[in-house]
Amino acid sequence: MSYETKKEYTQQELNAMSNDELARLGTELDGVTVAFRKERFPIANDPAERRVVRAVGFWLVLSIVMAIAFLGVYIFWPWHYKGHGDEGLWMYTLYTPLLGVTSGLTILSLGFAVVLYVKHMLPQEISVQRRHDGPSDEVDRRTVVALLNDSWKTSTLGRRKVLQGLLGTGAVLMGLVIAAPLGGMIKNPWKRGEMGIQGDGTLWTSGWSLHDQGVKLYLGRDTGAIAEQHTTETGSHWSTTGVTRLVRMRPEDLAAASMETVFPLPASEVNDGELYDPKRDVYEHHMHSIHGPRNAVMLIRLRTSDAEKVIEREGQEDFHYGDYYAYSKICTHIGCPTSLYEAQTNRILCPCHQSQFNALHYGKPVFGPAARALPQLPITVDEEGYLIAAGDFIEPVGPAFWERKS
Ligand code: FES
Repeated sequence: MSYETKKEYTQQELNAMSNDELARLGTELDGVTVAFRKERFPIANDPAERRVVRAVGFWLVLSIVMAIAFLGVYIFWPWHYKGHGDEGLWMYTLYTPLLGVTSGLTILSLGFAVVLYVKHMLPQEISVQRRHDGPSDEVDRRTVVALLNDSWKTSTLGRRKVLQGLLGTGAVLMGLVIAAPLGGMIKNPWKRGEMGIQGDGTLWTSGWSLHDQGVKLYLGRDTGAIAEQHTTETGSHWSTTGVTRLVRMRPEDLAAASMETVFPLPASEVNDGELYDPKRDVYEHHMHSIHGPRNAVMLIRLRTSDAEKVIEREGQEDFHYGDYYAYSKICTHIGCPTSLYEAQTNRILCPCHQSQFNALHYGKPVFGPAARALPQLPITVDEEGYLIAAGDFIEPVGPAFWERKS
């Protein structure tokens, strides 16, 4: 089989050709043989064509409606967590399924519309092309553009303004359906929020920052208590009423050469000792404190003989209370809990990458990848003998981040 298509064309010859001629030349130069080609609807707007247009339109409209529904659900549906027995639980449980159904139908409907259009409206065609090597020359590039133009023409989309609009709107809204959930992940880490037991949402604060708002914060020890089973006239049920998760500590609660993890416990949330009220439910507040990402603090009681060797950091000389030192438990490497206190050497170990910090030397790193000392929390004892925070951390807790200076 020989191909004798003329391959060299001057600029003038190419300029003189119409789009159809260039498209035909393109197929010939590419060694493409159109074995079969048939228009779907040789007569424009016949009833069969209108039926297909209606079907494609239906799926596009459904796609658009579902995309709008998705965005509406995503923005306006009540999504804040509700527990069992809370008002609005039913609506809350529908949030995720509705997102799934609406986004799924958006994509599915648009897919159906495209498949229907391609199957029923584009010309039927069987073409055979020989492979060729090497980069494309000027002629090929020009003819490819012409072929694309030809495809647009034969797709008949150019004269179907309604479908064009629906298709464009569907595509844009589908893009929004995909992009909108990503929007929820974009947050300004510096934006100040309302200060709570987990800080204000910025990297600078923690629950201990409430101290600067005049809140008295006890060093709360986690009892690990869970909900209790109660039997009433209405039957048996589990309840956290009267269950205290965080309790206040006195210095004598901790033996020498030992460590306790403590969390900020606001005075208003205390429910232990002489203040215990079996009808109060402080459980959720305490759990929020325990779950605060920068709240955990190691309270270490040194041996008196070791405490005499302590080297204080400048500006932190009065942060300790006697032999008691409180360091942030969040590793300054990449934020694991530095859970291990080795009493023999007074080293604090992070199990993640084996950083070690010297408890006698203001929590300074002495081994491993961590490069900054563990922030120290100022502590003291109140008039009733309970350990309390004497201030907030004076530097951000946890790993380094852009813009921090200490
Ligand atoms: S997170 Fe602690 S050593 Fe890496």
